[in-house]
Amino acid sequence: MPSQPPAGPVRRLAPSTIAVVAGRPGRVPDAPFSEPVTFASTYNAGGALEYGRYGNPTWSAFEQALGELEGGDARVFASGLAAISAVLSLVPEGGVVVAPDNAYTGTWAQIEERVSAGRATVRGVDVSDSGAVAAAAAGADLVWLESMTNPNLDVADVAAAAAACAGGPLLVVDATFATPVLQRPLELGADLVVHSVTKMIAGHSDVVLGAVVTADPALLSRLDDHRRLHGAIPGPMETFLALRGMRTLAVRMERAQASAQILSGRLAAHPALSRVRYPGFGAMVSIELAGGPSAADALATKVQLWIHATSLGGVESTLERRRRWPSESAQVSGALVRLSVGIEDVEDLWADLVAALDQL
Ligand SMILES: Cc1ncc(COP(=O)(O)O)c(C=O)c1O
Repeated sequence: MPSQPPAGPVRRLAPSTIAVVAGRPGRVPDAPFSEPVTFASTYNAGGALEYGRYGNPTWSAFEQALGELEGGDARVFASGLAAISAVLSLVPEGGVVVAPDNAYTGTWAQIEERVSAGRATVRGVDVSDSGAVAAAAAGADLVWLESMTNPNLDVADVAAAAAACAGGPLLVVDATFATPVLQRPLELGADLVVHSVTKMIAGHSDVVLGAVVTADPALLSRLDDHRRLHGAIPGPMETFLALRGMRTLAVRMERAQASAQILSGRLAAHPALSRVRYPGFGAMVSIELAGGPSAADALATKVQLWIHATSLGGVESTLERRRRWPSESAQVSGALVRLSVGIEDVEDLWADLVAALDQL
């Protein structure tokens, strides 16, 4: 059911409202507010669904809500990486891909896999340099932006990239960190948006899920075909939980962003740090320890409220030295600790962090 009013003056609902009202069952007596979880491998023949790998009503509710938030049609996948794989399947054999030179490690690994098999060539770019993105886009088949990037938090000018890609390569934005509450790439001219739903959208560190959104029916049909054929389908329970999480996305982001702004400002003055990366919006802050990688590792052992863990975007605040993973880009400082700010009280978060930093 579309969440927009059926008649009267057209007024687009705010993202915080769409997150609450979209993807609900119709308002008829005794209908539940939320689409229930449908566990089904097969349906009675003759309808639109037929088989559990082709469709599921719980997926449809999630897709309706995310699609309305982004301004396109969404497809949910088993993980962010499954969504990324579906999008990369759009690259023709021998195609040219432009990608952030410090993209999320899994994205870069999938592109590298194609390159090493001789199936694609890649041009790495600094996504915050619009001129470099435009130059690399010439003659490419697909331009992949991550905005902001994980974990350096570089921000791309999506509208400028869309202008450079017009009539040429497909423009994809992995907007996992920004979320549709803070940035809607399709409105800025992107062809496809990718999310690791695992992160802020689901928001409770209890599911792994991904999604792709596009306003182009031909691309949507190719993504559908990919999901049916390759089978990276989401579980109905995970999808239900992710939609439940999405209902509070806007308030969680508002709170986490306000805390991230306060923390990044205070951290900038701390002598244990050589650099604070914060683009001014969002819930992620990356800090670089003046004492190098060993100080970064020590910080992770000294915090008590913050959780030392990978991943991000949950209600709980977490931190991690990213280069502890051998696969992390060499462009990421070994002393960088990525903070994912949750929704706890900001003074409690600050007190724990500063107590740990003061011990270094
Ligand atoms: C920016 C970004 N994109 C994609 C992914 C992959 O998503 P998933 O872990 O849900 O497969 C991640 C995971 O950390 C990520 O940070």
